[in-house]
Order: sequence, then structure tokens, then C-alpha cells
Amino acid sequence: MKHKIHLIPAVTFFLILFYTVVIRARPLTPGVVSNSFAIAATFIIGLCFLLGPLSRLKPHKFVPCLKYRKALGLCGYLFAAIHAAGAIVLEFNTIASGENLYSIISAIFAFIIFTVMTITSTGKAIQKMGYQKWKRLQRTGYIAFFLVLIHFTIIEKGVFVSRQLGQVLFAFVLLVLLIRILIILMGKKEAYKPEEFHEVHGIEKPE
Ligand code: HEM
Repeated sequence: MKHKIHLIPAVTFFLILFYTVVIRARPLTPGVVSNSFAIAATFIIGLCFLLGPLSRLKPHKFVPCLKYRKALGLCGYLFAAIHAAGAIVLEFNTIASGENLYSIISAIFAFIIFTVMTITSTGKAIQKMGYQKWKRLQRTGYIAFFLVLIHFTIIEKGVFVSRQLGQVLFAFVLLVLLIRILIILMGKKEAYKPEEFHEVHGIEKPE
């Protein structure tokens, strides 16, 4: 199953591309491909964030899924990086336009946080930083996810969220963030002990 988990991001991307090109009849351009990566990245990163709260609510069902979180997160990051690079090359005018300033600043901060999370996603980094400090850093991901929500909501005066897929993505991101807030308010604790972290997440423990 561990290798097959990559199918989830791949299928998500192709479904979004299929929906855009075949159902919405938009031409298959590099811009549409780049945007499909952006939408897939947001769904996959959101799924990773969702697994944390779900594993606290229903440990028997969702703690076994936590071992797929890292692979999913890395795919989500790769998709976001492809989108960011694509946007810089293909949408430079949109990025440079003053009316998109706050959207682009939000995107850059979100991308920096995701990059730091990705770089520190190894057993070695956890050991170097210490578990508690590393955990705090990983939690900034929720702030990054909120910044992504701002990014795609206000870009080009809200053109993306005026479309059906944009509204579905908006509702999904909001749901992920609300569930996380609910878990904090309910005071639900982690479903595993800190010493079980590596095993639960399938991350190798350095010697
Ligand atoms: C340096 C980083 C980034 C830059 C420069 C950037 C730039 C852009 C630009 C220019 C657009 C508008 C595209 C268009 O008008 O067709 C856009 C849309 C979007 N971006 Fe980003 N972005 C960045 C990071 C991210 C990240 C990290 C995510 C999510 C993980 C993301 C998600 C989205 C989404 C969902 C859209 C809407 C797609 C659509 O219109 O179909 N972006 N971005």
C-alpha cells in the first residue's frame, strides 16, 4: 500500500485536469495544467492536515493512516512547487500586478512554511530539533494552509472562487481548518505517545 499511496495525488490531479478540460471545456494549456497542480496540491495538503484531527477523534480508524501522511505531504509539496514555478513563468503579469499583491505575499509565505516543513520531515531533523520544537514547527502548517485560502480567494478579484471548483476547494479548506479548531476546543489529545511517533508515522529513527 505504501507505494500505491502516490496514486491518490496522481488520480486527484488527473481528475481535476479532466474536469477542467473535458467537462468545463477549457483549452488544455500550460496555465490550466499549472492551476490543476495548484488545486490538487491544496486537496492533498488538506488531506494530510485532516488526518491529524481525525486520528484524535477516531484513533482505531485513522491512526493506521498516519504512516501515509509523509508521502502524501511530499507529493502535495511537489505539486505546489510545480504550480509556483509554472505561475512565475506563465503568469508573471498576474504576479506583478499590484491588485494581486496580498494574494501573492500570502502564497510566498505559505510556500516558505511548506518548504521548511518538507526539509525538516526526516528522522534526523526531528532528532536535531527535539520532538516538541519539531511538532510546534509542523503546526505552523495550519497557518500556511490559511494563507493558501487567502491566496486563491482574493487572486484576480476572486475569479477562482466564483467558479464551482473554487467554491468546493474553499469549503474544503475551511472545513479542514474548522475541524482542527474544534479538536483544540474539545481538548482531544494525541492518540499515541511521543515515543511511538516514528513507528506510527513510518519515519525512520536515526541511530
Ligand atoms: C510562490 C508561490 C506561489 C505563486 C507565485 C503563485 C501564483 C499564483 C497565480 C499567479 C495564480 C493565478 C493563476 C491564473 O490566473 O490562472 C495562482 C492561483 C492559484 N494558486 Fe498559487 N501561487 C503560489 C503558491 C501556491 C500554493 C503553495 C498553493 C497551494 C498549495 C497555491 C494554490 C493556488 C490555487 C488553488 C490557485 C487557483 C487556481 C485556478 O485559478 O484554477 N498557490 N497562484
